[in-house]
Amino acid sequence: MASMVRWDNNIPGILNSMIDGVIVCDKEARITMANKAAENLFLAREGSLLNIPLHQASSERAINNMIDGVLSTGKEVFAETRFDSNNRFYRVHAVALTDVGGGIFGAVAVFHDVTEARNFDQMRSEFVGNVSHELRTPLTSIKGFVETLLDGALANTDTCRRFLSIIDTETERLNRLIEDLLTLSSIESKERIVKPVPVSLVRVLRNVTNIMSPQISEKRLHVEFIYTDGLEPVMGDEDLIGQVFINLLDNAIKYSPRGGKIIIRSRRREHRVVTTINDTGMGIPRESISRIFERFYRVDKARSRRQGGTGLGLAIVKHIVESHGGEVFVDSEIGKGATFGVSFLVV
Ligand SMILES: Nc1ncnc2c1ncn2[C@@H]1O[C@H](COP(=O)(O)OP(=O)(O)OP(=O)(O)O)[C@@H](O)[C@H]1O
Ligand SMILES: [Mg+2]
Repeated sequence: MASMVRWDNNIPGILNSMIDGVIVCDKEARITMANKAAENLFLAREGSLLNIPLHQASSERAINNMIDGVLSTGKEVFAETRFDSNNRFYRVHAVALTDVGGGIFGAVAVFHDVTEARNFDQMRSEFVGNVSHELRTPLTSIKGFVETLLDGALANTDTCRRFLSIIDTETERLNRLIEDLLTLSSIESKERIVKPVPVSLVRVLRNVTNIMSPQISEKRLHVEFIYTDGLEPVMGDEDLIGQVFINLLDNAIKYSPRGGKIIIRSRRREHRVVTTINDTGMGIPRESISRIFERFYRVDKARSRRQGGTGLGLAIVKHIVESHGGEVFVDSEIGKGATFGVSFLVV
């Protein structure tokens, strides 16, 4: 039983190496043992929780009441509570300590930090809420026009054509939304293994500007691409990197006035190639800058929607770039255009 003895001797060490906080109280709710995690949690100096009444050590009313309850009823408690002191969520498990005759002589409470899980749950439910809202808007509009057609508007060919073309646009929006969501989820789930190969940014950017040339000429925009000779290739997945620039250029085009100017610049910065896309468009208000890469975030919802936007373009950009080990940034002032930048690692 030698190992038993060693284990017993090591209880303080074991408790102190735990991530969860552990507190033991006597019958009067006076703390008789607290591990390091618990001391950090109750913001006490080392050892200073010992022999202090719990009510004095802790200003967390819910916890104090819980332990009082366990001490008076002997009933085990599981609860989730937010600590005011650090604004984090803990799952607390408290049990009574009883002697052989069943008499209560104390209580043990274990505090497990569940903040990350709580935040994740909240993010997921916000996401589901946003998606549902985004899906409902075009669907409501499609349903409205279909009903009007069925109610008799079918008889008028012009009206009929106009309504059908709106239905067509809205269906296209739904399609794009689903496609964007699938792209996001496939990058996030890492289902699509990024097999990094050397990619020429010059070639990718030329392709992208070619693909977008109908929109560019339609708005009479002037697009300039400046890069240093012999620019090194970067490591990544060519299609995904292309998607990054399609989304950024699409924004530069959409949010620029007719006749505006777009400058794309690529240059080496230490072990990365930094590409910036600068436009002379409407710009982004200061208070929106920090949220611009969030899913579904749009400065002007109505305007973006009119342009067929889903608000997922920049979220996709950020995901792709970060999954490649690069960084995204933005600099803009309202009315003075915007500059979006992305970096990729060189080979
Ligand atoms: N170059 C830019 N100039 C001004 N505002 C921009 C620019 N790029 C993005 N924004 C703002 O950021 C918001 C989010 O952009 P994002 O690309 O994520 O979505 P979107 O363009 O609305 O839709 P999507 O790209 O999914 O079609 C836009 O709605 C717009 O308000
Ligand atoms: Mg966009």
